[in-house]
Amino acid sequence: MGNAVFTHGAVRLELPMVRATAGNNGYDITKLLARTGETTYDIGFGSTAACKSAITFIDGEAGVLRYRGYPIEQLAEKASFMEVAYLVLYGELPNAEQLDYFNCAINGYHLIDERLKEMFRSAPRRSHPMPLLAAAINSLSTFVYTNPLIDPTDLDGATHRLMGAVPTLAAYGYKNSIGQPMLYPLDSESYVENFIRMSFGVPSRPYPFDEEIIKALDVLLILHADHEQNCSTSTVRLVGSSGANVYVSVAAGVNALSGPLHGGANQAVLEMLAHIKRDGGGVNRFVEKVKQREAKLMGFGHRIYKNYDPRAAIVKQHADAILRHRTGHDELLDIALTLEDTALNDPYFQERKLYPNVDFYTGLIYQAMGFPVDMFTVLFAIGRLPGWIAHWREQAADPTMKIGRPRQIYVGQAKRDFVPLDQR
Ligand code: SDX
Repeated sequence: MGNAVFTHGAVRLELPMVRATAGNNGYDITKLLARTGETTYDIGFGSTAACKSAITFIDGEAGVLRYRGYPIEQLAEKASFMEVAYLVLYGELPNAEQLDYFNCAINGYHLIDERLKEMFRSAPRRSHPMPLLAAAINSLSTFVYTNPLIDPTDLDGATHRLMGAVPTLAAYGYKNSIGQPMLYPLDSESYVENFIRMSFGVPSRPYPFDEEIIKALDVLLILHADHEQNCSTSTVRLVGSSGANVYVSVAAGVNALSGPLHGGANQAVLEMLAHIKRDGGGVNRFVEKVKQREAKLMGFGHRIYKNYDPRAAIVKQHADAILRHRTGHDELLDIALTLEDTALNDPYFQERKLYPNVDFYTGLIYQAMGFPVDMFTVLFAIGRLPGWIAHWREQAADPTMKIGRPRQIYVGQAKRDFVPLDQR
């Protein structure tokens, strides 16, 4: 397959092929509007590539996910989240010296300015932690006096500052909601250990780490580290394309992620399972409601995966281990397993290629770890952070980068003259 040719009336326009190293190639339509006076129309950008990227590859039909070429299954089994964050950010797995420097650099920023803590105190106690996290990350930019777009030498500083501060800010949002003291991170603890202890520890006694939980959360963060041009990452890119700094761009990504159709789905799944449980566990009754379009099967379906989300398969393995380890029998897990089995064997879902996505089982694990439902999407954000920063950096380093500014198809009123108030 080579270039495509677009013909429209007397216009004949060659559309050069933009070749991929794997997956879909693209056709360059940048000259279409100038040559034809017409635009393309692609609601939700389902068939439109917004950029070239070398960070993540997804084959939705085959259920394949790779970060910088490495299969997600290998990374989840053999790497740590910090190794994967480094890989996503810098393109290669770190050696021991590079990993040690990365960890130390991030530790240099996991303590936040004491004044930033007051921001949480001014929020209502029952604030959802996602808007608080976005506000805190926005505020982080006010404590920094360089713009990495202007001063590229600070880009690594900004990267380390965000990677260091975000788990602390996330834990503070949670502590504020339960009225407990905010703890300080310790350089002697790992990235995940610090976050777990700052979330669940108290100053009056040592925190009893559970290695199963630490390992499971590390794997979950790996599974969320990046996912190419999803809604929140595309938001980070669009905001960054205006020259806005990486902090406020990431804060915008947090806001996009909070929607129940995106990262907020892990919270919506637990609420759906709890609803089914309250309703006497009527899985079939719920599935019929979904087929009548009275409800969505949250945690199912995906814009790209028309097969089992490879991340969901890995989460499911851990869900069973963690839930049995922590709670013995878990009724919500049984409902989820029955719901999945029912849907996967129902033509309605088969015809629409609806499979479990990453959010279907994660909430069950987060709940078993002790997190409240409204913290689930915050955990997604902590995992996705290296991906957001990596895409912001990749775009900022692209000499062909342009400010994002989509066109539209106008379907409003034709030209008309103003009508004075006394004639309306
Ligand atoms: C994430 O993009 C990413 O990579 C995202 C993500 C990441 O890592 O960043 O993977 C994370 O956001 C995962 C998705 C989490 N969201 C949910 O679980 C919410 C439930 N899922 C749906 O809302 C939906 O599947 C989407 C939003 C995920 C995808 O929607 P699309 O691609 O726009 O698909 P669609 O709405 O056009 O659906 C196609 C058909 C429709 O039926 P018909 O009108 O053709 O008859 O499938 C149906 C939809 O009604 N459908 C569902 C459904 N999802 C799609 N029906 C019931 N339940 C669902 N969950």
